[in-house]
Amino acid sequence: MNSIRLISWLLAGLITCGTGVALYLFLGAPTQQRTLHQIQGDAVRGAYVLRLANCVGCHTDREAGEEGFLSGGEAIATPLGTFFGPNITSDPDYGIGKWDLDQFASALINGVAPNGDHYYPAFPFTFYARLNDQDIVDLWSYMQTVPAVGNPSQSHRIGWPFNQRLLMAAWKTLFLSTSLSQANESRGDAWRRGAYIVEGPGHCGACHSPRGPLGNIDSANRLTGSTIGPDDEATPAIDPLALAEANWTADDLFWLLQIGVLPDGDVIGSSMADVVDDNTGHLNDDDLRAIAEYLVSH
Ligand code: HEC
Ligand code: HEC
Repeated sequence: MNSIRLISWLLAGLITCGTGVALYLFLGAPTQQRTLHQIQGDAVRGAYVLRLANCVGCHTDREAGEEGFLSGGEAIATPLGTFFGPNITSDPDYGIGKWDLDQFASALINGVAPNGDHYYPAFPFTFYARLNDQDIVDLWSYMQTVPAVGNPSQSHRIGWPFNQRLLMAAWKTLFLSTSLSQANESRGDAWRRGAYIVEGPGHCGACHSPRGPLGNIDSANRLTGSTIGPDDEATPAIDPLALAEANWTADDLFWLLQIGVLPDGDVIGSSMADVVDDNTGHLNDDDLRAIAEYLVSH
């Protein structure tokens, strides 16, 4: 009798703990609330933020020509499955034309859809969580000017169990950080701007950082290169030590990011060529110098 009672207590305890852990995992995803409505948006600056954050890279099909702009991207192969950046034009049915600023912000910084669904981190919201308020509002002003394209978004190809979006709630509890602070007050403005771009909108670590078994960025070793970048391609380390060992100077980095030329005069290849085309090649000199300064000395 006594041992049966003991076992029932133990079972009850286990179930309570298990439920507690499950509730924590599925309901504990951090969310940020921002107050954005008083901020005046500037669509011209927003077009620049679109480049800074490389929204074009994953949401545009290069084959589709000008009409394809932001109306849905090429396949992104990851160990979890193949993803397609959806249509984010102003089309009310196929794009995000019916969204408002808060819904847009929540997609970017919380990885949550207007209907409450959780996004997959193939959409780099763990980096966009660091976007500042002004950049979000400017980007939204610009997004509303993007011509509507009536392309249906393609479905992702993901096997069980990862096709269960609810799992992403637990993933976010474990891996989404809302700590925004990149600020290191002892550094100058350019360095801090570089930190913001590289660790935030520029999401360089999405490709250049190693990942854990659940696709999470290994933040302690960030920017030290990855054996499985996008499309199963390895990426080089771009942390200060690795750059110093390979004799990269801030000037070399500036030219690579602006025009895709390596110190030996060769042209950069693979997905980094697309990054230069869609993203860093559109940035102003100050921002490129800021990125370079941060990379060689953080
Ligand atoms: C590395 C690739 C990548 C980049 C860069 C990227 N996205 Fe996405 N985005 C995705 C993928 C993949 C999804 C789909 C996620 C899902 O279904 O869970 C997505 C989803 C979205 C959605 C949700 C659309 C919907 O119909 O629910 C919005 C809005 C969005 N992205 C906007 C942006 C903006 C704005 C930027 C730039 C700041 C950006 N994305 C940059 C890959 C990317
Ligand atoms: C979509 C994935 C991707 C993203 C995002 C990305 N890179 Fe790269 N990067 C690569 C790949 C792949 C290479 C290797 C290219 C090659 O050698 O052909 C590379 C190479 C480089 C190199 C040359 C390093 C060396 O030793 O040869 C630098 C520097 C660099 N990237 C900086 C950046 C910065 C800064 C960012 C963010 C603004 C960034 N990358 C974002 C994929 C990416």
